[in-house]
Amino acid sequence: MSREPGKEVGIVIGETTPAYAIYLSYEPPRLGEYVVIEHPEGPVLGMVEESLIGNAFLTEDAKDIRAAMKTIEMIGEERLYLKGKVRILSRLEDLVHKQKVRPVKTPPKPGAKVFLADTDTLTKIFVPRGALVLNGEAIYDEESGRGYIRIGTLANNPGVPVYVDVTRMVARHTAILAMTGAGKSNTVAVIADRVSRAFKGTLVLFDFHGEYLDAFPDADYNIVVPRINPNALKLSEIATLANISPSYHKQYRVLRLLYEVVYKKLSQSIEFRNRNFIELMIDIVDDLESMEEEIKSKQPLQQSNKRRKVSKEQVRQIAKEKYGDVADLVARLSDLKKDYLYEVVGKLEDLMLRYKAFLDINAPQYIGNLIVPGKLNVVDLSQVDREGSDVFVAYVARTLLEERKRYVTKGEGYGTPVFLVLEEAHILVPKDEDTNTKRVFSQVAREGRKFGVGICLVSQRPKNIDENSLSQTNNKIILRLIEPEDQRYVQKTSEQLSNELLGLLTSLDTGEAVVLGDFTILPTIVKIDEHKHKTMGRDPDVVREWMARSSKKKSGEPDLFDEFAKMQYGL
Ligand SMILES: Nc1ncnc2c1ncn2[C@@H]1O[C@H](COP(=O)(O)OP(=O)(O)O)[C@@H](O)[C@H]1O
Ligand SMILES: [Mg+2]
Repeated sequence: MSREPGKEVGIVIGETTPAYAIYLSYEPPRLGEYVVIEHPEGPVLGMVEESLIGNAFLTEDAKDIRAAMKTIEMIGEERLYLKGKVRILSRLEDLVHKQKVRPVKTPPKPGAKVFLADTDTLTKIFVPRGALVLNGEAIYDEESGRGYIRIGTLANNPGVPVYVDVTRMVARHTAILAMTGAGKSNTVAVIADRVSRAFKGTLVLFDFHGEYLDAFPDADYNIVVPRINPNALKLSEIATLANISPSYHKQYRVLRLLYEVVYKKLSQSIEFRNRNFIELMIDIVDDLESMEEEIKSKQPLQQSNKRRKVSKEQVRQIAKEKYGDVADLVARLSDLKKDYLYEVVGKLEDLMLRYKAFLDINAPQYIGNLIVPGKLNVVDLSQVDREGSDVFVAYVARTLLEERKRYVTKGEGYGTPVFLVLEEAHILVPKDEDTNTKRVFSQVAREGRKFGVGICLVSQRPKNIDENSLSQTNNKIILRLIEPEDQRYVQKTSEQLSNELLGLLTSLDTGEAVVLGDFTILPTIVKIDEHKHKTMGRDPDVVREWMARSSKKKSGEPDLFDEFAKMQYGL
């Protein structure tokens, strides 16, 4: 059914508030549609959040089916009433002329006329002022220095493009949430591609499945193969890679002592600096053994080797020569049960084998050589396991935050703001578990804004994301989301998400999204543009690949039946 935008569609009935009104409509109100309502403070714009159809003669308390049938025979089925519930958003005038939201203080009056908002009016609201870039895929307003990218069109009016404010998207953080297949990756691709091409944005896209590696042929992109200098690792990161949880108290204590010894030496001597941190940790245990042997060898011979005791103080004395002021830490290690030392060494040796390619003493020390400023950096995590990914993502995020702080306060460090997009956020920023990434991301969520480090959390399991971090994402793009617990959790972490909009999430089509937050002028339902060069997210082409293989067989490989027929019947 086509609609003339701007036409009168109904009148307000019942009791109203400054925030909500119900209207009686000539035709079924559509969810997400914008309407204009007459108002004493000047016309207001609202969004339809609920749509109802009823029949005044067939009310809920009807008990007699025969009487109901008779009623229908008499009055006809078509005696329906249609109602819409509208969330009142702002005075229209401020939206159209200043692109500013100004809520009204008083309710609209019952009897006020309701009109559909027309394409022209909506365009004035949703298209920011400024110069069009990339055929309208972006807009740049030189005066304010603001940039906007187009993410799609109004779901109810394809004639109205929808833009979001890039500065706010980055500075106030963003989340893209939806069930699998609803269009998250496509949304990520649209945003990353346009921010990169229109504004030379520095982006980091953490790609778990390698699905974005060939998704941006037109952008200036950089594929990042995860490599990390072992000397740049923090204690908690080494612990993650070595699979030593802080709850293994004894092993963790050993690890901490080894780490501190190397760390304190590393900052002092050149000799240490060119060697692998983890090898050095292992070396300490070897060292300790030979020192203990030496001490024992100086003890009276009549005691059997086993019964000779080595005191902490003796170790401290002898370790002084090589370890200087960290000799005390080495001595403390000698006090611990040997089993724990060997367990930790075993785990560190395992770690060295498992992460041979990942931990690279020649990996770039300066983060700018890894995450290139001005580029769309796609980090290929598809070859790294979960622990490796956790450590690498945490390393990148914390280093960028530190370097941005340095840049903002001292003018040296990482020179451009950066937007970190994390797919599968529920894995590395989980609710009930402690990860390196979670610690860093919650810090970036809190402090990033000041230093120009933004995050975008992408997930199909919102309810498993750390609540703290998710609440810090002011902007939300929520595509189809059916699971009730996921829905409730998203609502808990989004201020603007009303019950009505929440209910609507179930009925969204693929690529349709509820868009909320400071980066959009109004809460809105958008049909996200399709990213053209996308190979990502598709179901594997199962049947075609099988068929292709079977037809290849016919032409290339010998067909067993043919062979058999030749032999048997001389065909
Ligand atoms: N905005 C859109 N317009 C058209 N098709 C889309 C859109 N978003 C997603 N799709 C289709 O749905 C499929 C799954 O999308 P994807 O972004 O991979 O979902 P998700 O990442 O949420 O699992 C895509 O391959 C594409 O065919
Ligand atoms: Mg995806």
